[in-house]
Amino acid sequence: MRILAHGFCVSLLILAPACAQNGSESEDTASGTLRGPDSAESALPEQPEQPEQPEQPEQPEQPEPVSQASTDPDSIHILVNKQNPLDPPDYAPEDLREVEAAREFDRAPLREVAAGAYEQMFAAAAEEGIDLWVTTAYRDFAFQQALYEQRLSEDGAAAADRVSARPGHSEHQTGLAVDVADLEDRTCYLRACFGESAQGQWLAERSSEFGFLIRYPEGAEGITGFEYEPWHLRYVGRETAEDVTARGVTLEEYWGQPPAPNYDQPYQPNPQE
Ligand code: DAL
Ligand code: ZN
Repeated sequence: MRILAHGFCVSLLILAPACAQNGSESEDTASGTLRGPDSAESALPEQPEQPEQPEQPEQPEQPEPVSQASTDPDSIHILVNKQNPLDPPDYAPEDLREVEAAREFDRAPLREVAAGAYEQMFAAAAEEGIDLWVTTAYRDFAFQQALYEQRLSEDGAAAADRVSARPGHSEHQTGLAVDVADLEDRTCYLRACFGESAQGQWLAERSSEFGFLIRYPEGAEGITGFEYEPWHLRYVGRETAEDVTARGVTLEEYWGQPPAPNYDQPYQPNPQE
């Protein structure tokens, strides 16, 4: 507000010199200096007493998060986003195994702990008549690079960066992320409307019980850096997933980390060479 008023005065300076005086006065008032006893203030009529402001109800203190962000790629709490690449960029987990559940492709590896959790979730959903399919799970650096560069060549950098992570920046490379779809009705395959499907709604409500969360929620692109992806699940363990989901926040917010809407650098193909 002050900046606006100041700008307004600058533009009026030639026409209204008083404006400049008022502008500097308000700064003097703020600093509490340069005002003598003969100033105009002493001639002002007494101000009526301000009514007492009602006390604001105290906000209940939010309990501490049950986990903190990690930079260790082997931690289930690794934070990966546009500002936090994997280190090393070609990291590969050592405990990958195939997920024993319905899947689109021959291979769908996840880290042991995430694979077991996914299998439990898959079985629980099936019992309730919800059929889930894994599309892709772990993606290594080269696979992610191929996906990203394909998107880049088709749609350009600005569009690609909203939907596909650069190699070394994808959660899929941690072995803790999995994309889920309904292969019997592909209408919403990897599309936002998946969030309204029976599968998408079940996952939003129940996946945290199994340690997963919807990593890229709707309306959070300015924080996560990616558009809404109701199909992209990230394993963080049950306690964290349930707490994050209950609070309705992103992982960045939950872990007190800065928003990561953008990369610092334009994309350089083959950054490892
Ligand atoms: N689609 C997500 C952001 C990825 O490429 O990892
Ligand atoms: Zn994904």
